[in-house]
Amino acid sequence: MEKETRYLTFALTKGRLAKKTLELLEQIGITCEEMKDPDSRKLIFVNEDLKIRFFLAKGPDVPTYVEYGAADIGVVGKDTIVEEGRKIYEVLDLGFGKCRMCVCGPKEAKALLGGQELIRVATKYPNIAKDYFYNQRNQTVEIIKLNGSIELAPIVGLSEVIVDIVETGSTLRENGLEVLEEVCPLSARVVVNPVSMRMENERITRLLNELNRIVSGPEKN
Ligand code: PRP
Repeated sequence: MEKETRYLTFALTKGRLAKKTLELLEQIGITCEEMKDPDSRKLIFVNEDLKIRFFLAKGPDVPTYVEYGAADIGVVGKDTIVEEGRKIYEVLDLGFGKCRMCVCGPKEAKALLGGQELIRVATKYPNIAKDYFYNQRNQTVEIIKLNGSIELAPIVGLSEVIVDIVETGSTLRENGLEVLEEVCPLSARVVVNPVSMRMENERITRLLNELNRIVSGPEKN
């Protein structure tokens, strides 16, 4: 790779997605040894040779950093992209972190969907839930925003149903709940700041092509 001048900055979603993303970047020759130290409290990591910087952020903050150009590129779940509704380009499906956004609840709650009943929906994703019920199902509902352990809500009587991520389905099963309807499939996506896309087009396009070659190849995760 030729010498680059400006740093290209990546915002990665802390946790499993960042780990997977770094493994993928490693396959196209982009490494960051500094970031592998589990005891490090550093927030930003640099690869001086490639003029690339990485930082780790909470999922919902990744689209914010990218929209404002504090990061050129982000890797974040589709759920967060839809929920946050930021002005960013979604450019590549990385194919990992696959799961589904679903309406879930006890079996009996299925009868409450699609009707005129005013039900309560607990979720960490109020915008996604609102769009689904109001625009796609034409059902008026009361949305209750929670921050985690959403499955609790129908069990303790806070809501009739929830809108939440289902991966293996074991959280639902272990709590006597089930998928009632699927809202949309999800996975990790690459997002890009629109100005960076113009200004750094060659560099970003090259990188996206290399990533695309890996994720669409036979060794796909
Ligand atoms: C997510 C999601 C479900 C669970 C689904 O929660 O909100 O609770 O994972 O996974 P499963 O289908 O494989 O059981 P997460 O663990 O991220 O924590 P949270 O409850 O705090 O949101």
